[in-house]
Amino acid sequence: MEILTTTKVFALIGSPITHSLSPRMHNAVFRQLNLDCVYLAFEVKKENLKQAFEGAKALGIKGLNVTIPHKIAVVQYLDELDESAQLTGSVNTIKFDEKAVGFNTDGIGAIRALEEESNETVRGKKVVLIGAGGAARAIAYQLALKKAHDIVIANRTVKKAQELAEEVETKLKVKIRACGTNKGTLKIELESAKFLINATSVGMFPNVNETLVTADVMHSDLIVNDIVYNPIETLLLKEAKKAGARTVSGIGMFVYQGAESLRIWLGIDPPIETMRQVALEVLG
Ligand code: ATR
Repeated sequence: MEILTTTKVFALIGSPITHSLSPRMHNAVFRQLNLDCVYLAFEVKKENLKQAFEGAKALGIKGLNVTIPHKIAVVQYLDELDESAQLTGSVNTIKFDEKAVGFNTDGIGAIRALEEESNETVRGKKVVLIGAGGAARAIAYQLALKKAHDIVIANRTVKKAQELAEEVETKLKVKIRACGTNKGTLKIELESAKFLINATSVGMFPNVNETLVTADVMHSDLIVNDIVYNPIETLLLKEAKKAGARTVSGIGMFVYQGAESLRIWLGIDPPIETMRQVALEVLG
């Protein structure tokens, strides 16, 4: 793919970004669809966010993905926020037109992956969501928007789960419960649940021998999703398989949040399978 004066530039900003899969995944799409676009990654330290944002705008960059540690801090520089960014108070995708508009595709990506890969909808179903950090927040809002019937947020620090549950309840007028992550509680909640989503970093490389939920508290009618994708098959997913449950790996969330960014920037429906293939190749 030749870089020309007309080439539209997209980029990731964050720190660290060395291990990001995004450049390879997005550039593979641009090549396949023969688009005059390129995707780069820039290491931007916390203290340089404002200059990086202004610089991107001045250079005519068409869109940014934003990752740790800038997802919340970048909000102050934007002209507009779409609903997903407003609700979560954090942004992972920016579109530059006349205005700079912020979006958050994490929750949309996670639930789209979950529904497409399990062939089930969350609407009307009970979901146990583990975690109360940034990823869990995005997913909790999207579950509420998608009208999951019974949402339970389970977190090691119960207070954080309660605060998140109350926040989502207040903004979206849905009932959400909160609890801890001890085995007894999780067993009771999971008995009547259809989905279990781990939105914590537990089980991520190098801590591959950790899981908050084991096979003995799961059942075969459960669909278990881990947002951790390194390793692709986490201990949680191995335990789920032992219990006869269906599993959805974290690759899907990563791929679909990226696909949603491409839709926002270019109005395209990108080739999901190519994106997944690239992500799997890099991780494999
Ligand atoms: P992110 O933005 O990626 O979601 P975060 O905001 O740091 O990351 O949140 C991390 C989440 O993983 C939290 O829910 C955290 O639980 P606490 O609120 O109790 O800290 C959870 N988490 C991380 N390590 C954990 C561990 N070893 N056991 C249980 N929960 C853990």
